[in-house]
Amino acid sequence: MPKESKQYVCQSCGGVSAKWQGQCPHCAEWNTLVEEIVSKNITAPGAAMHSSSRGKSGGRRQLELAPLDAKTPAPPRLQTGIAEFDRTCGGGLVQGAALLIGGDPGIGKSTLLLQVTAQMAGNLPTLYITGEESLDQIRLRAQRLGVIGAPLTLAAETDLTTILNTLKVGGYGLVIIDSIQTVHWDALDSTAGTVAQVRACAGELIRMAKQLGFTLMLVGHVTKEGTIAGPRVLEHMVDCVLYFEGDRNHQFRILRTVKNRFGATDEIGVFTMTQTGLQEVTNPSALFLAERDHPVSGTAVFAGMEGTRPLLVEIQALVAPTGYGTPRRAVVGWDSARLAMILAVLESRAGMSFAQLDVYLNVAGGLRITEPAADLAVAAALVSAATGEPLPERQVIMGEIGLSGEIRAVNQLDLRLKESAKLGFTDAVIPTLRDAQLPNAKIAVKQLRELRQFISSIEKTSSPLRGEVTHEVRRRG
Ligand code: TYD
Ligand code: MG
Repeated sequence: MPKESKQYVCQSCGGVSAKWQGQCPHCAEWNTLVEEIVSKNITAPGAAMHSSSRGKSGGRRQLELAPLDAKTPAPPRLQTGIAEFDRTCGGGLVQGAALLIGGDPGIGKSTLLLQVTAQMAGNLPTLYITGEESLDQIRLRAQRLGVIGAPLTLAAETDLTTILNTLKVGGYGLVIIDSIQTVHWDALDSTAGTVAQVRACAGELIRMAKQLGFTLMLVGHVTKEGTIAGPRVLEHMVDCVLYFEGDRNHQFRILRTVKNRFGATDEIGVFTMTQTGLQEVTNPSALFLAERDHPVSGTAVFAGMEGTRPLLVEIQALVAPTGYGTPRRAVVGWDSARLAMILAVLESRAGMSFAQLDVYLNVAGGLRITEPAADLAVAAALVSAATGEPLPERQVIMGEIGLSGEIRAVNQLDLRLKESAKLGFTDAVIPTLRDAQLPNAKIAVKQLRELRQFISSIEKTSSPLRGEVTHEVRRRG
């Protein structure tokens, strides 16, 4: 008889508790603990292959010590031929690495992976295992994508043991599991998609990938809370985590590196979803700059960086007099706490009060930016919106704002300026360079130390923001 005991696993953080409680003691989420039977003599389906040293000799075994400076070649990279994808992975797929691709349902993960694998299958034996769709559905998608002739092997399966048995003998170089939430290991009592199942199944698959040296790509759905499979447990287990994001109302999709043991994070790849699948976007700045032929107040262009690549985006702000009570602050594509901070700095360091105004802030094109370097562009858009004074049309703005109203340095200034010049911008507002050399770019540069300096340069003398909200704003409201 297998010896059994019970434990309670949080479906949000994966924490284990000995008894049931309403609130998880690890992450303080409510009602997330689920009972699990722990059977003491479970052995992994693949365990026979990798258990070795724990047996008889395990008691006396010591660590194998190694020097740091031993020659290690960089891991060979397998290019997929889809440049946007390769860059996000840090230069191509690494043999034996495990990748997790997360994203909302319907965002295009299966489409992306089918395009990637169809490209790879010619050079590398590739197996695409689906637990979500039928084989016919995949074939129909392949037809739509124009990759139906690719030498790709498909399987529709959700049973972990069957999958591992197949992988053991298949000699594959690349394996896709779409999605990890559908895979089920019958040694565990819980249903597919629970933390226990996802963790155990992913663990076994990753172990086999390392052992046999195939590249493993797991698809993971993002939950309402925005993390993969509820817990972040999966993110710790894999070598590389990519998020596929995008707005359903926009065509473009962004593949973002969140973690990469073999390369840089914060890298993005930009695609558009078309009738015939995902197309690479090689010049994304053009996509995120709103098109217009005359200057409008409340917009500022931010020269941002996404990973190693510069990306120009338009920040749009709108202010309107508050009707009743607390003014509204609505933000799309930026951090609302950061907006509150900028408004506070504008008020206490530059004397501009937005207390009687509703504020709406939007990053054009549906992009989400996280860089503090966008602060100054946000402040510029806000001031321009409130004064009704458009900013110079061909101007880019960058700089972080500190709490004392100082404008702080940004990294990668030369790349930002070169990209701006390339896209036809003629002026740039940047933080004061203290010791650094001004990069050589074909753009006129204005260096600023203080937010106040900047505001006086865009503000009309009769600013509606000083003291009372004026007729100007009221009229527009
Ligand atoms: P899918 O790859 O199935 O999403 P996921 O695997 O992330 O759940 O993509 C689903 C959406 O993509 C679906 O709404 C239809 C759209 N789509 C296109 O617009 N063009 C195409 O060529 C394909 C294959 C899908
Ligand atoms: Mg899918």
